[in-house]
Amino acid sequence: MSFQGKRIVITGVSRGIGFEAAKLFLKAGGDVFGTARDPERLEKAGAELKALGPFKAFAADLSDPEAPKKVAEAVSRHWAAIDLLVNNAAVSSWSKDFKTEGVGAVEHDMRVNVFAPHALIFHLLTLLRNGDEPRVINVSSGAGIRQSMIDSPIGASYRLSKYSLNGLTILWAGQLKGEVAVNSLDPGWLKTDLGGPEAPGEPIDGGKRVLALAAKPADVTGRFFHGDTEIEF
Ligand SMILES: NC(=O)c1ccc[n+]([C@@H]2O[C@H](COP(=O)([O-])OP(=O)(O)OC[C@H]3O[C@@H](n4cnc5c(N)ncnc54)[C@H](OP(=O)(O)O)[C@@H]3O)[C@@H](O)[C@H]2O)c1
Repeated sequence: MSFQGKRIVITGVSRGIGFEAAKLFLKAGGDVFGTARDPERLEKAGAELKALGPFKAFAADLSDPEAPKKVAEAVSRHWAAIDLLVNNAAVSSWSKDFKTEGVGAVEHDMRVNVFAPHALIFHLLTLLRNGDEPRVINVSSGAGIRQSMIDSPIGASYRLSKYSLNGLTILWAGQLKGEVAVNSLDPGWLKTDLGGPEAPGEPIDGGKRVLALAAKPADVTGRFFHGDTEIEF
């Protein structure tokens, strides 16, 4: 799988799935612009990533409503076009129910997991339209599948945010049909800070699934995948 010369923006690149995806894209010849919240962690991850290929970093807290525009401005100082945006960064207020999560949890999770991806697509749209077969991957979750929420309503705020992110995928895909492919990805349950130590999979499995979806034909849009396998919203 070659991503030679592809200009790729990835959020949440400092650890977990985003870090693994960035490593794989750089090894496959891509140019990566990565963001994360914590500047020190980003610098440390960036040192490892820069050893693999062209990597640029920009720290921004995506819970700040102004941050997506600042990220887009930083990207546009480097590139006039991008070929792939991976909306990967996320938070999770996961707990037993809405009551234990607290009333602010929905807003907290929606801000980073939905509003920021939406604003990033919005502010990066000109660059995406200038790209070569441009694509957006919204890293969602099996937790946001309708049936999964019926089966287990715990982790409600996070589930709601991923359900909403899938709606965002469907709506942007419809509006950008023929211009930019927009799809959702369930990376699987993986051992990361967010996934926890009990998860059966490794972060690199998620990284590989990001690349598998990024390699799909550019006319595949408005869909939900787990690696190569299409799944129901
Ligand atoms: N792991 C799983 O089992 C699993 C399952 C399904 C879906 N997912 C999805 O996969 C994606 C990646 O998850 P992960 O498991 O790799 O998570 P992770 O290990 O917790 O890493 C999260 C990344 O997002 C960044 N981030 C968090 N809050 C941010 C904020 N406010 N502003 C900017 N960046 C922020 C973090 O940056 P800092 O280091 O600076 O905090 C970090 O780089 C998420 O969308 C998640 O919902 C994961």
